[in-house]
Amino acid sequence: MISQETIQQILSRIDIVEIVGSFVKLKKRGANYLGLCPFHNEKSPSFTVSPSKEIFKCFGCGKSGNTIGFLMDLEKYSYVEALKWLANKYNVEIEETEVSPEVKLVRHTADSLYIINNFAQQFFSNSLFHTEEGTDEALSYLKERGFREGIIEKFQLGYNPSAKDTFAKAALAAQYNTEYLQKSGLVVIRDDKPADNYRGRIIFPIHNQSGKILGFGARIIKSNDKAPKYINTPENEIYVKSKILYGSYFARMAIDKADECLLVEGYTDVVSLHQAGIENVVASGGTSLTPDQLRLIKKYTNNLTIIYDGDSAGIKAALRGLDLALEEGLNVKLVLIPDKEDPDSYVNKVGAQAFNEFVNKNKKDFILFQLEVSLADAGNDSAKKSVIVNQVAETISKINKTEEFTRRQDYIKQVAEILKIGEDGLNALVNKFIRDKVTKEEYRSQQPAKADIDKSSSNEQEKELTVDTLFNKDEMSERALIRSLIEFGNYTWAENQTVAEFLFGQVADNELDKMIDNKALLNIYNIYKIWYEEGLKPTSKSFLYHEDRDLNSLVISLMDANTEISPNWKEHFEGHIATREELFREEVLSTLNYLKLRKIKKMIEENQRDMEHAGTENDQILYLQTHQQLKQMEMELTKQIGTVIFK
Ligand code: GTP
Ligand code: MN
Repeated sequence: MISQETIQQILSRIDIVEIVGSFVKLKKRGANYLGLCPFHNEKSPSFTVSPSKEIFKCFGCGKSGNTIGFLMDLEKYSYVEALKWLANKYNVEIEETEVSPEVKLVRHTADSLYIINNFAQQFFSNSLFHTEEGTDEALSYLKERGFREGIIEKFQLGYNPSAKDTFAKAALAAQYNTEYLQKSGLVVIRDDKPADNYRGRIIFPIHNQSGKILGFGARIIKSNDKAPKYINTPENEIYVKSKILYGSYFARMAIDKADECLLVEGYTDVVSLHQAGIENVVASGGTSLTPDQLRLIKKYTNNLTIIYDGDSAGIKAALRGLDLALEEGLNVKLVLIPDKEDPDSYVNKVGAQAFNEFVNKNKKDFILFQLEVSLADAGNDSAKKSVIVNQVAETISKINKTEEFTRRQDYIKQVAEILKIGEDGLNALVNKFIRDKVTKEEYRSQQPAKADIDKSSSNEQEKELTVDTLFNKDEMSERALIRSLIEFGNYTWAENQTVAEFLFGQVADNELDKMIDNKALLNIYNIYKIWYEEGLKPTSKSFLYHEDRDLNSLVISLMDANTEISPNWKEHFEGHIATREELFREEVLSTLNYLKLRKIKKMIEENQRDMEHAGTENDQILYLQTHQQLKQMEMELTKQIGTVIFK
């Protein structure tokens, strides 16, 4: 957990124009800024940023939110990831609450590895561009293959010299620790001495989605039967192969925009396609897609197009695991590049336009493709054919979401045609697989799933938090009080006392917190109090960026509420039209008194009920006295309220 102090520090520095402006080109238009929406394709700008409200809104696609929401939507960050990104941007050191020693150690190792990787990347870039061996051996090789300097720099490609320990020496001289250097895979111990692992190789840094370097792929320059063509970083605290898609950092926005992710095998395929202007492309490194990689793709798009060379060994690997993609609702297409070319060589040969045309013309549906391949395999063997029918029916049964019914039926129709079998029969078979799966799952959980229970209770909460419901009067005054607290809490009420402190006292003395019936409002009150007592100065902004999106929309609705003030006051305030700010005392007092009045009315009602059931005469007298006292208080409050405005 990131500490509240850190969060406040980050929030206080947020400049929405600066943050959004680092992703979108913005032009000033009056009080606002205008640009092309990053969330949908548009030719004329309808994306606006309001610095005063700290929100963005697109009038084209309707997306809107605050700075953190922007980062979450655009970069697919979680709330915490967005905060960390901002912390990094503003150089705020993140202070965390309750981190176990084990977690601390992993983090420390991870941080060290990132730092080493950064150092290494710079070292390798420098070797590539500024050493004789680099330019003669490596840069010339890259250029011969058609890579231009711009793209080499963008992908931060580099070169590790061929001598045994050029990098190791530099890293040790720069005080990097041998143990971490080994962990990073950059250095190995050879003949008891630290030596370079990637000697004489072109280096491809591998970035995560936010651009940090997780590790490297290192390609040999001169093919050699003994040495592997590529060496990759070994698994460590930050390089987790199953979670990595090469190029995701450079492709993420293009994938979002195109609503399609192209998947290729190799690093060079990604770089070449980028150079050709095809940027929505990532590489899996020729292995089958893992659930984590699929999830990463699904953050951006539901459309996955796999582009492999026709005789690649990787293709079978890629196809494995794709049932999972179907279950996740991904739409998988496949394109095979002909004539022993791969996407890199093919795009270099025919150019971007022809490449795109080829891909679009030859996109094959993944299920139909798989079917064709296995049918060709089976030949005339009817036993094999019936296995295929079962396989394809099972695959189709994975398309099982309600909204995908049409898609499933389309497949059944096409597959039945290809297999020359009856549509009804295939339909029945698919349904059998669906039923089997459902039965299995039911068997697994006889009890109602916990997720469902959670869902229903969170729905209730949602209802309670819905801001547009009609409020009853109690709730109106509760809302007004919380609003006063948030809006004026840091104002001076009396000497050495802020409005917040005054209100805390009042609430405690009158047990008003028991009067705040609305749980969400009480929650805001409590959070405010905790923050305040920690020495923070909470404002509505603090809540706008709260992790709980329901909570921040409630605060937005509180602050958005009608801010009109009574005409009487407007005219009589020191000869000019008064603002709410000038009238904050009246505002605070009136909301407070109104809430108190409601509490007293409730007490009167309760007291009356008790009086009716009173046993002895003595009791009755006591209740009567209470009644009179309460009535007196009610009258005084009503009088006070009459003198301050209340709408
Ligand atoms: P070029 O031959 O330079 O065009 O590279 P490529 O990216 O086309 O390589 P290839 O198609 O042979 O392999 C595709 C991907 O598989 C590479 O980008 C690597 O990620 C991975 N790969 C290839 N060869 C090896 C190897 O020897 N070892 C490991 N670990 N991975 C490899
Ligand atoms: Mn290649």
